[in-house]
Amino acid sequence: MSIAVFASGSGSNFERLVEVSRDQKWPVPIRLLVCDKPGAKVLERAERLGIPAVCVSPKTFADKAAYETFVLAELDKHGIEWIVLAGYMRLIGSTLLDAYPWRIVNIHPSLLPAFPGKDAIGQAFAYGVKVSGVSVHLVDEEMDTGPLLAQVPVLLEEDDDLESFTTKIHQAEHRLYPEVVYRWITGAIKTPDMKG
Ligand code: GRF
Repeated sequence: MSIAVFASGSGSNFERLVEVSRDQKWPVPIRLLVCDKPGAKVLERAERLGIPAVCVSPKTFADKAAYETFVLAELDKHGIEWIVLAGYMRLIGSTLLDAYPWRIVNIHPSLLPAFPGKDAIGQAFAYGVKVSGVSVHLVDEEMDTGPLLAQVPVLLEEDDDLESFTTKIHQAEHRLYPEVVYRWITGAIKTPDMKG
């Protein structure tokens, strides 16, 4: 049993998850990084942390199903049971969803259902909200819509600019995500299939 993290960009959440899972000696280790952006910074982090990475561009496959069938084979090889999306900029298709029912989780930098999609931090800042935050949710077939597992608020204060607000959101993500993933993989959070 192990966890794969999927990421497309910087990978700060990936790194934090690996560090916390090692420090806390999680019963289910993070064993694989799946990346869809060759050259992404997250690959350097995986190398430094000694986590094997699979990185292929979906463009090299005929369609999403073919790409996900390839990814699925890699997940099988590594005995992956849980998928953690951390800045993975791609909608998960039915091939992976069917193979991992309620076993895929995502983090989003807003209080969903507000500001779904790209640049949620910038959207919330431009709107002039007084409070935004971070959401962790199970993944379904649509973008940022699955059942919520946890949320934390982050205040946008008078003296915040976009940069300081972004930093606060990322700090909240780095605190919340490892805690929620741990509770999810250890069964402390009930998923819809467990609620009967
Ligand atoms: C995070 O803000 C996450 O909520 C969003 O993408 C960003 C990824 O950041 N889905 P990083 O690559 O983990 O630094």
